[in-house]
Amino acid sequence: MGKTLDKIIDMQKKSEKIMQGGGASRIAKQHEKGKMTARERIAMFFDEGTFIELDQFMKHRCTNFGQEKKDLPGEGVVSGYGTVDGRLVYAYAQDFTVEGGSLGEMHAAKICKVMDLAMKMGAPVIGINDSGGARIQEAVDALCGYGNIFLRNTHASGVIPQISVIMGPCAGGAVYSPALTDFIYMVKNTSQMFITGPAVIKSVTAEEVTAEQLGGAMTHNTTSGVAHFAAENETDCINQIRYLLSFLPSNNMEDAPIIETDDDAGRIDEELNTLLPDNPNQPYDMKDIITTIADNGEFYEIHEHYARNIITCFAHFDGRSVGIIANQPAVMAGCLDVNASDKSARFIRFCDAFNIPVVNLVDVPGFLPGTDQEYGGIIRHGAKMLYAYCEATVPKITVITRKAYGGSYLAMCSRDLGADQVMAWPTAEIAVMGPAGAANIIFRKDPDVAAKTAEYIEEFATPYKAAERGYVDMVIEPSETRSRIITALNMLTSKRESRPAKKHGNIPL
Ligand code: HXC
Repeated sequence: MGKTLDKIIDMQKKSEKIMQGGGASRIAKQHEKGKMTARERIAMFFDEGTFIELDQFMKHRCTNFGQEKKDLPGEGVVSGYGTVDGRLVYAYAQDFTVEGGSLGEMHAAKICKVMDLAMKMGAPVIGINDSGGARIQEAVDALCGYGNIFLRNTHASGVIPQISVIMGPCAGGAVYSPALTDFIYMVKNTSQMFITGPAVIKSVTAEEVTAEQLGGAMTHNTTSGVAHFAAENETDCINQIRYLLSFLPSNNMEDAPIIETDDDAGRIDEELNTLLPDNPNQPYDMKDIITTIADNGEFYEIHEHYARNIITCFAHFDGRSVGIIANQPAVMAGCLDVNASDKSARFIRFCDAFNIPVVNLVDVPGFLPGTDQEYGGIIRHGAKMLYAYCEATVPKITVITRKAYGGSYLAMCSRDLGADQVMAWPTAEIAVMGPAGAANIIFRKDPDVAAKTAEYIEEFATPYKAAERGYVDMVIEPSETRSRIITALNMLTSKRESRPAKKHGNIPL
C-alpha cells in the first residue's frame, strides 16, 4: 500500500514539474512580452475543465551536442483534446519556455498524434505556434518531424477544419504547416512569420527591415494575404477562434450546427429599397447590405484587411451557416483583381469542402484593367474563381444588386457557372460590358454616340434581358432579400450534385 502511494506521489511530482514548463523565470519573460504560456492558452481555448492532455511524459532521444542531459518538459508542446461549445476539438500549443518551443522528433510526434486522432474522429484541429523552428540539435530528425506534419496537413485538407494560430515566432520552413491549413490567425505585435528573418535578408540583399515589418500580423493581413485574421491580443484571438468554429461543421461529412435564432426569417427591410445611390457610378458600402440581411446583423469577415474590393465572410441565415462572397463597390468600385480572385477562390473552396452554402452579392463593373494585372497573371488568378464556383456542389445563391458586366458577371457565379438561384434587384445592370465600353466599340462611327449610349443603358443595363432568357430567376424588391435567400436555402437543403470520378482536378494555380 505504501509503495503504491509512493508511486502515485512520484507520478504527481513528475507531472507537476512538467506542468511548469521552462520554469518561473522563462514564464515571467513570456508574460512580459504580453504572451500567455502554452498551458494558459489551451486552458482559455477549451470549455472550462474539458482539456485532456496526451503525451505529457514524452521525451526526446537526441544525444547530439550533449542534448541527452537536457530535460525538456513535455517536449516543448502541450497537446490533447477537449470541447468548444460542447463539440470535440483537438489542439496543440508549442511551449516557447522549453527550448524556444523548437520542434524535434518527439515534439512532432505529439503533434502528429493529435492530427491522426482528429482525422479518425472527424474533429477540427487547432495548432498554436510559438517556436524558434527546427530544434537545431536534432538536425535532420527535426526536418522529418516537419515533413510528417506537412503530410498530415495536406491529407486532412478538406476533411477536417484546420486552424493555425501564430502567437510568437514562426520562421523558416515551419511556416508551411500553417500555410497548408485553412485559416491563419496572428496576434498584433507579438507574432511573426517569415521564411528568412531580418538578419539573413540583410546579409543577402542588404535590405533592412524589422521582424514586425517583415512578417508581423498586419503585414500578412494586408500585404501578403498569408494570414486571415489579426487579433488585438491573445484573449481576443482565442475568442475569435471559438467564434469561427461556431460557423463550421466538425468534418466534411457533417453540416455546420444550426444556431437558434430569434431573428424573423420573413423580415422585410424597407431601408434596402433606398440604400443604393441613384447614380450608378456612386459607391455604397456592401457591408450595410450584409448587416441588414444576416441574422441579427452579424457576420464574421475572413481576410478583412486583404483585397478589400471583395468581402468574404460567414453569417447565419435563419440559424444556418452560410459563406458570403460580395463585391465591395466602396473599394476600387468592386473590381475583381488578382488578390480578390485568390481570396474568393480559396473561400469558395473551403465552403464547398465543408458543406457550407454560398451566397454571392454582386455589384461588379469588371476585372481591373492594366499591365500590373495582366503581368501579374489575372488570367490565371481570375480562372481560380471561375474554377472554384464551377467545381462547387454546395447550394449557390446569387443576388445581383447593381452591376454585373462581362466576364466578372460570370466570375461572380452566374447561372451558367451553376448558381441554383439567381435573383436580381430592379437596379441590376446585367450586360456583356459596361455602357461606355460598349458604345466605344459598336457606336464609334455613329454621329450621336451619346444618344446611342443612353439607349444602350435604357435597354441593356437592366435585369430584364437576363430575366427574359431565364439567366435570372426572379427580379425582387431589395427589401425582401433576406426572406428570399432563406427560402432559397430551405429549398436547396436536399441539393445533390455529383461530378465525374477523378483523382483530382487541376485548378489553375
Ligand atoms: C534549438 C532554440 C531554437 C532552435 C530557440 N532556441 N530557437 N533551440 N533550436 N531552433 C532556444 C534558445 O537557444 C534559447 O535557449 C531559448 O530557445 C529561447 O530563445 P531566445 O533566443 O533566448 O529567445 P528570443 O530572444 O525571444 O528569440 C527567439 C528567436 C530566436 C527569434 C526565435 O531564438 C531565434 O532566432 N532562434 C532560431 C530561429 C531559427 O533560425 N530557426 C531556424 C531553424 S532551421 P536557452 O536555453 O538559452 O533558454 C528551421 C528549418 C525548418 O527551422 C524547415 C522545416 C521544413
